[in-house]
Amino acid sequence: MVEFSLPKNSRIRVGKTWPKPENAKDLREIRVYRYDPDGDETPRVDTYFIDAADCGPMLLDAIIKIKNEIDPTLTFRRSCREGICGSCAMNIDGTNTLACTKGLDEVKGVIKIYPLPHMPVVKDLVPDLTHFYAQHAEVQPYLKTETPTPEKEWRQSIEDRSKLDGLYECVMCACCSTSCPSYWWNGDRYLGPAALLHAYRWLIDSRDEATGERLDDLEDPFRLYRCHTIMNCAKTCPKGLNPAKAIAEIKKMMVERQV
Ligand code: SF4
Ligand code: SF4
Ligand code: FES
Repeated sequence: MVEFSLPKNSRIRVGKTWPKPENAKDLREIRVYRYDPDGDETPRVDTYFIDAADCGPMLLDAIIKIKNEIDPTLTFRRSCREGICGSCAMNIDGTNTLACTKGLDEVKGVIKIYPLPHMPVVKDLVPDLTHFYAQHAEVQPYLKTETPTPEKEWRQSIEDRSKLDGLYECVMCACCSTSCPSYWWNGDRYLGPAALLHAYRWLIDSRDEATGERLDDLEDPFRLYRCHTIMNCAKTCPKGLNPAKAIAEIKKMMVERQV
């Protein structure tokens, strides 16, 4: 039974529609992207139905229910179930977000779930984040110092510590980078909002002693300057962070050091 259609030129085809649960009190329809690059010629969208009255409150609960009770072949990532690990990032109802912090009741009508956009798919809702993680490593996201390590600890004033607020909370979910048009088209060379937010987090850490070297590494027409302040990143971040602002601050630091 085909219950919906996709645009004529879509590479994605309409897949299987699974049966509805009997006597459901709160029936929800969930359409999920399915693709196994090792076996499928094209991706498809399968339709599932769950009784939300018999399910946890979050989108992730619904996906786990589908896997446990309807279709064990559905593949996705998750770990913490509380917005900390960043692994359940996916595109829900057109927005990149964390499935475990998105309420089922926040989405009205049919729920559409796709993997994070513009990334190679490992299987179903699992994108290949190898390149994304490599870019994170490229910004050397750790303390770099020249002075000898103190006996006890690298101290930081309360005021300097507070400069890291709005940055350290990043869970590396990739929602921002995969919502950024500049990253879609130049992701091979543009570092993207997530990696740049981390770059800035270390640039303004009062304990770090590699500021000049870090700025030198970013001084490149692609690595930093492909951000055109489109702001998708800040709009989509499930942790409420603002990578675009961090990028603007790095650009300011670049200008200031030339004065
Ligand atoms: S503000 Fe910059 S990083 Fe954020 S989405 Fe736009 S181009 Fe991408
Ligand atoms: S800035 Fe936000 S959206 Fe981007 S990786 Fe970090 S937590 Fe995810
Ligand atoms: S499962 Fe960890 S952030 Fe969603």
